[in-house]
Amino acid sequence: MNVSNGPTQMNHNPGIAAAEAVDQDRLWQRHMEMAKIGAIPGNGVNRQALTKEDITARKLFFSWAKASGFSIGLDAIGNIFVRRHGRDPDAAPVVTGSHMDSQLSGGRFDGIYGVLAGLEVLEALDRAGAETERPIDVVAWTNEEGGRFAPGAMGSMVFTESRPLDECLGIADPQGVVLADALAETLAATPEAEKRPFNFPIAAYIETHIEQGPVLEAKGLPIGIVTSIQGSRWFEIEIRGESAHAGTTPLKARRDAVQGAVAAISALNTLMDDPTDTVRFTVGRIVAVPNSPNTVASRVSFTIDLRHPEGTVLTDLGDKVEATCRNAVTRCDVEVREVFNRQPCVFDPNVLATIEGSAAALNLLAMRMPSGAFHDAMFMNEICPSGMIFVPCEKGISHNPAENASPSDLAAGVRVLAMTVFKLANS
Ligand code: GLV
Ligand code: MN
Ligand code: MN
Repeated sequence: MNVSNGPTQMNHNPGIAAAEAVDQDRLWQRHMEMAKIGAIPGNGVNRQALTKEDITARKLFFSWAKASGFSIGLDAIGNIFVRRHGRDPDAAPVVTGSHMDSQLSGGRFDGIYGVLAGLEVLEALDRAGAETERPIDVVAWTNEEGGRFAPGAMGSMVFTESRPLDECLGIADPQGVVLADALAETLAATPEAEKRPFNFPIAAYIETHIEQGPVLEAKGLPIGIVTSIQGSRWFEIEIRGESAHAGTTPLKARRDAVQGAVAAISALNTLMDDPTDTVRFTVGRIVAVPNSPNTVASRVSFTIDLRHPEGTVLTDLGDKVEATCRNAVTRCDVEVREVFNRQPCVFDPNVLATIEGSAAALNLLAMRMPSGAFHDAMFMNEICPSGMIFVPCEKGISHNPAENASPSDLAAGVRVLAMTVFKLANS
């Protein structure tokens, strides 16, 4: 296929014409515009969910969608839906998208790529004059990362009614701001959006994302067809001791929460030890109180992110977390809260075959692969046939300011998306 960047001749196949109408330069420029919002040193982005940076990004996205003539909707947790109408206004839409929020120290592509890819598809369909039977919605899910308000994938979880909105509203960020307040401010910033309900009927969901791992780059392949997502469990552990003077209190008399946390984490490392190196176990945030060099800590909280592709192993290891912490900590009190528990998901065979067929029709080499990262698609897969498209990222680096991807790989993923969405929206 002859892929061009500018306005295209109409191809006899409207799906291929839409793929050819994808504008690589505009797609890249939009990533760079978005990356200015919450920019941090080293080319990274800090645009956490429901912050003023998130609001700025939402407004910019709205302005692009409006300029292209698409209608905009918002649901009660702030998920954005940009619609291109189909011939049948009552048909369930095909939905594509991802998230606009980033990690605290994140990169320029995680999440935002899937959202900008979706908008580019709507515009490419317009440029190619390709009509669809069903409407197509581009979604930007609220708070996929969970770095500020835990857990992640919150927008899709609430949309699919896997968790009630009310349960999320009281969640506080590390500064004590509750989600209800940050959400109210975010919703108020874009009053022009139409209201959309949760869990409206959807024909199919496709999410495009950078791989966040090294496989595609190493194999020199532009497209990954994501077959599954491994399961995840998140815990928050609190170790409560007593503050004391560092110079005078004998070690044996202390109830030192830092030492309690060290013992708990060390016992957890032993529990998670896996000769096959399949278990993913991360303690990502540790907060000590009062956090003073010469005071024994009275309280330490830390997070656990545990993942495994096999549901039984995930269940077994996760169920041992609380007892492991309690047995390891002898002088302090221990509280364990589980905030997220998601079994592995397997994507729809027909959607995967459609993605595969699109990549083949565009002469783009592809492989099937699992995802180690979670995505909103794992919740959407519960309510409609779903699938994901991966594109390579440099050295597999992600959740890191150095995250990078090439303009041509990003555009290739959008071309496959355009053709896939076109097919699904006409079936
Ligand atoms: C998504 O950001 C994940 O943590 O997998
Ligand atoms: Mn992501
Ligand atoms: Mn992420």
